[in-house]
Amino acid sequence: MKATIACLPGDGIGPEVVEAAQAVLRAVANSYGHSFEMENYPIGGVAIEQYQNPLPPFTLEACQQADAVLLGAVGGPKWDSPDAPMRPEQGLLSIRKGLGVYANLRPVKPHPRLLTASPLKMDIIAEVDLIFVRELTSGIYFGQPKQRWVENSEECAVDTMFYSESEIRRIAHLAFQLASTRRRKVTSIDKANVLETSRLWRKVVSEVAKDYPDVTLEHLLVDAAAMYLIQRPASFDVLVTENMFGDILTDEASMLTGSMGNMASASLGDSQNQHGKRRGLYEPIHGSAPDIAGKGIANPVGTILSAALMLRYSLGLEKEAQAVERAVEDTLSLGILTPDLGGSANTEAITRSIIKRLAAAIVAV
Ligand code: IPM
Ligand code: MG
Repeated sequence: MKATIACLPGDGIGPEVVEAAQAVLRAVANSYGHSFEMENYPIGGVAIEQYQNPLPPFTLEACQQADAVLLGAVGGPKWDSPDAPMRPEQGLLSIRKGLGVYANLRPVKPHPRLLTASPLKMDIIAEVDLIFVRELTSGIYFGQPKQRWVENSEECAVDTMFYSESEIRRIAHLAFQLASTRRRKVTSIDKANVLETSRLWRKVVSEVAKDYPDVTLEHLLVDAAAMYLIQRPASFDVLVTENMFGDILTDEASMLTGSMGNMASASLGDSQNQHGKRRGLYEPIHGSAPDIAGKGIANPVGTILSAALMLRYSLGLEKEAQAVERAVEDTLSLGILTPDLGGSANTEAITRSIIKRLAAAIVAV
């Protein structure tokens, strides 16, 4: 197949991990006879420097036309001042909104070789296999008003948590559909004892649940969910929640795997590409890690696994997605690990190993 993939390397280690994933995608294309056209576009801090805009219009247009988008990371100390007029993170929020990718899927499944890398006890995390469905284009990150002003000679600020019924309904459907293909359990997380948006969330999710009689629905308050994620993480299957709760809980959940560096994400909306699949934005959940940027030691696994999710969800290439996932598994099993996981392999070595396993797996078939 022919596919166009818009690539947004971004800041810090972003370019290093995107380059690694592009090398893996090129290997997939060569081995399976596909043609992936991959072009880089600026986003985040580098785009502010060059174009005074964290998401230049031509970047958004290229992404809207592509079959899928691969993103590294944005941000860094250079652009971090609280008074900065523009922030790299605005680029990320705008691309998510601009692509309409309202559902952010973040799978969490610790690799057997890495069970000791987690600060949690092995018997608590051994059976963990969960996936977050985080609402990504609404809630308190987008609601209006969102501003600062001076009143009675002091500064005040407001952010607004807003949800409409349709925004909740569409993500609830996606969560239940996903659960139908897994262990058929949905945990919906809110703060319904305090927030009006959460009471609406709970009502709509309960209504949607009626369409999926085979799937069990559990409601949890977000504070309790934070506790249960540490106490009984293996009891979860699909967790669906609003934007900010999902942002916080997925960083917490990443510790079940020992390192954020391994975690992938797929952000999906309803827009379809030329292959009749959902357009998607694929990115690792880690940040731009400015402390190790340019050293060649960043862990590319989260981005490479995000590319595998892209093959699956936006290109419909399930076999290829599994081959990449297996090649990553095999490489980690061999103990080829970057320093964040206690190893000494650099980005290039681990990428090379993944490509080598990929080739071996294809020959074996
Ligand atoms: C994430 C990040 C972003 C978010 C930031 C960088 C805006 O933390 O993808 O989880 O809050 O969504
Ligand atoms: Mg986050």
